Amino acid sequence: MCGIVGYIGDGNAEKIVIEGLKKLEYRGYDSSGIAMNFGGKLAVEKRKGRITNLEEVLEKSDYPFENCHLAIGHTRWATHGAPSDINAHPHFSMDHRIAIVHNGIVENYLDIKEKLIKEHGIKFVSETDSEVIAQLLSVYYEGSLEDAMFRAISEMRGAYSICAIAADEPDKIVATRKDAPLLAGIGNGCNFLASDIPALLKHSREFYLIENGEVVVLDKNDIKIYNAEHKSVVRDVFHVSWDAASAEKDGYDHFMIKEIHEQPKGLTETLMRRLGDDNSIKLDGINLTKEDIDGFNKVYIVACGTAYHAGLIGKYAIEKFAKIPVEVDVASEFRYRDPFVDDKTLFIAISQSGETLDTLAALREAKKKGARIMSIVNVVGSSVARESDDVFYTWAGPEIAVASTKAYTTQLMCMYLVALYMGRVKGAIEDAYYNRLIEELKEIPSKLRKLLGTEHQIQDLAKTLYKTEQVFFIGRGTDSAVGLEGSLKLKEISYINSFAIAAGELKHGTIALIEKDTIVVALSTQDDLFEKMLSNIQEVKARGAFVIGVAKEGNTAIEQQSSHTIYIPKCMDEVAPILAVVPLQILAYYIAKERGCDIDKPKNLAKAVTVE
Ligand code: AGP
Ligand code: GLU
Repeated sequence: MCGIVGYIGDGNAEKIVIEGLKKLEYRGYDSSGIAMNFGGKLAVEKRKGRITNLEEVLEKSDYPFENCHLAIGHTRWATHGAPSDINAHPHFSMDHRIAIVHNGIVENYLDIKEKLIKEHGIKFVSETDSEVIAQLLSVYYEGSLEDAMFRAISEMRGAYSICAIAADEPDKIVATRKDAPLLAGIGNGCNFLASDIPALLKHSREFYLIENGEVVVLDKNDIKIYNAEHKSVVRDVFHVSWDAASAEKDGYDHFMIKEIHEQPKGLTETLMRRLGDDNSIKLDGINLTKEDIDGFNKVYIVACGTAYHAGLIGKYAIEKFAKIPVEVDVASEFRYRDPFVDDKTLFIAISQSGETLDTLAALREAKKKGARIMSIVNVVGSSVARESDDVFYTWAGPEIAVASTKAYTTQLMCMYLVALYMGRVKGAIEDAYYNRLIEELKEIPSKLRKLLGTEHQIQDLAKTLYKTEQVFFIGRGTDSAVGLEGSLKLKEISYINSFAIAAGELKHGTIALIEKDTIVVALSTQDDLFEKMLSNIQEVKARGAFVIGVAKEGNTAIEQQSSHTIYIPKCMDEVAPILAVVPLQILAYYIAKERGCDIDKPKNLAKAVTVE
């Protein structure tokens, strides 16, 4: 979900809206656009890429900007349809009398689109879900944009904040929201709308926070808010005292910790829209038939860094639920070792950015050899997505911090869904087990919220550990993969030398490094391996290690073995990685903070690694 800005008043609407959009650039976006009303005629300009591309177009245009006192603007983070000029917002209704910008997703857009085409002969020009909003508004428009908005949202499902303008009402902006942020900024002889406070801080520090289901109507002197029953409501003014930089981070000190806290939401997005009432999984963007799935004799999962760690859990899930052998490889190795890939291979690339060159090169190599290419990607329309046969999006939202957090946990969620889907289609998983797993996945976001509530305990722990120069992560089964991710998080942002190893492998050499006060994070979340882990913890404890045990609530036996225990909520072993990684993310964050590191932009690292 990206940015929305709206302005109505006597100032230069185009300039104010573009300035506001620039304040939202930090959120990441792929295109931008603006709609203006020139005394009863709507104009829209939009461009793929940076806001400067849009500005170039506006500079060359001969619009009479001095007469434009109303505009709505948007930065888009594509979810439906690739980033392109046409898919960028604002979207027009077919008659160009209404224009809208939209953040979020209209889940039932296909049904609405079909109805609009059949019953009203509407012609659509973009691939977006958002265009249905403009078309619906125009079908319902009878002279009052707010009335049309109420009718339109009564048909829409999903998450959205929407701003709309109508050619016939040149003195009005109408907006609404559901599960996506929207606020109205109070000006002097002018008023504003935005999806985020930083967009408006230059002009106002007084806001009305719009609630779900409300419709807000702005003219230059007034802001009227109507509740779902169409009754006018009085809202307290929300005063903002923070500066622009802290507002961008919603009051958090860094994007990383903000993104850690966004995980329950990202996981809900990634999961819930893919589930039917009967727990069936809809793999949107994936066209694998039963014949295709039955035909695969091997799966390769290929990725880099954190995404590779998600692949390790993916292997576990696909082998267990779909009973297909899986190899996981780091992308930079895969392409140079002449792997056994043919037309019976399913190749899965995992990438947050979708632009990692190593992953892209591995994908091309597998394609050349005839594999079917699936990708799990966060950035819509990215290179990895474009070059894949099937794409499954992690709907984590833009990830700004270099250290990946919400992308990882949503990648895990996608891996579970792909594995369960294939298992079901193949008849490799029993119904009762399948349903138990889906029910467990549904509970993950609320369990994660509970876990995030214990953040201060981990913060206190970080204060006692931050001076250390070495940390080990040990675990068995999926915990050993979670340890790799915990270790990577710690080293990349705190510059502490950390090392992850399968707990049973420790005694084959690495244990030589364990001495008094060596910090060992012992992941012990797998019930069937719990006792074995206790023995491994004993081994390091006997050599003086300071052990931080991570276990499920109720497994209190760990307390006798550990110097400190972190509990995650009870859950099935299979899904525990999504929960177990979160304390490790938080620990890495607070240790790095205590050490005064540049957390969001660690040295030597880039968000998208587009070199070999
Ligand atoms: C994670 O915290 C890293 N910064 C890094 O390992 C990253 O996961 C890796 O470079 C892969 O990036 P991608 O997901 O964009 O392909
Ligand atoms: N779903 C919309 C699209 O893909 C809006 C995306 C956004 O929130 O920017 O165009």
